[in-house]
Amino acid sequence: METIRGKTSQSLDFDGLRARLENYERVLLDLGTGDGRYVRFLAEQHPDWFIIGLDACRENLRASSRLDLTNALFIIANAQALPQELCGLISHVTINFPWGSLLKSLLIGEAALMSGLTQISKPQAEIDIYLNGGALVEAGSNLEAGTQIIYEQMNRYGWNVQIPYWIDCCVLQKFPTTWAKRLAYGRDPRARALRGTIL
Ligand SMILES: C[S@@+](CC[C@H](N)C(=O)[O-])C[C@H]1O[C@@H](n2cnc3c(N)ncnc32)[C@H](O)[C@@H]1O
Repeated sequence: METIRGKTSQSLDFDGLRARLENYERVLLDLGTGDGRYVRFLAEQHPDWFIIGLDACRENLRASSRLDLTNALFIIANAQALPQELCGLISHVTINFPWGSLLKSLLIGEAALMSGLTQISKPQAEIDIYLNGGALVEAGSNLEAGTQIIYEQMNRYGWNVQIPYWIDCCVLQKFPTTWAKRLAYGRDPRARALRGTIL
């Protein structure tokens, strides 16, 4: 799979990844990580966790991936074709404010994304998904209806996801992603959240 550090791409195979993860019990994957701010935050707060940020867009990842964090890794890949090297390694998936094809795949329950998520997950893996209204409207839905659809899709594809809950402006202001900050100070400072575990 292709990893990135600053402007440099490097290939990392299954054994290479295993070696990097050797001393870490908890491995978190931030899917659609954007500029990787959330990965940086978690890696600094939890030196005993290994944090992986994945995004299809390499330009956004340049600054965060340049930092010298031994417990973080950035991967360039499409969410609908998750790298085989991640198979069975992930204990926690986060998807914060997805848009574009990532959001669409969640809404339609696209098999390529859903089966990839199952394959990369360890037993009892957890998932957290934060959704915002603007992206869902662009995708032809709205905040409440779109969240409900994604909730149903996740449960259909082998996750035990609980009833969606609201994220208010105060939580958004403190949530350490670039998109959370934009929303918090924008026109509609609310989000919906889904939390679950794999069955
Ligand atoms: C609104 S941004 C959110 C970024 C970050 N999670 C945050 O909270 O600041 C959505 C991100 O999803 C990524 N994305 C969209 N479709 C994707 C796909 N199919 N595979 C991987 N990343 C995707 C985009 O490149 C973008 O960085």
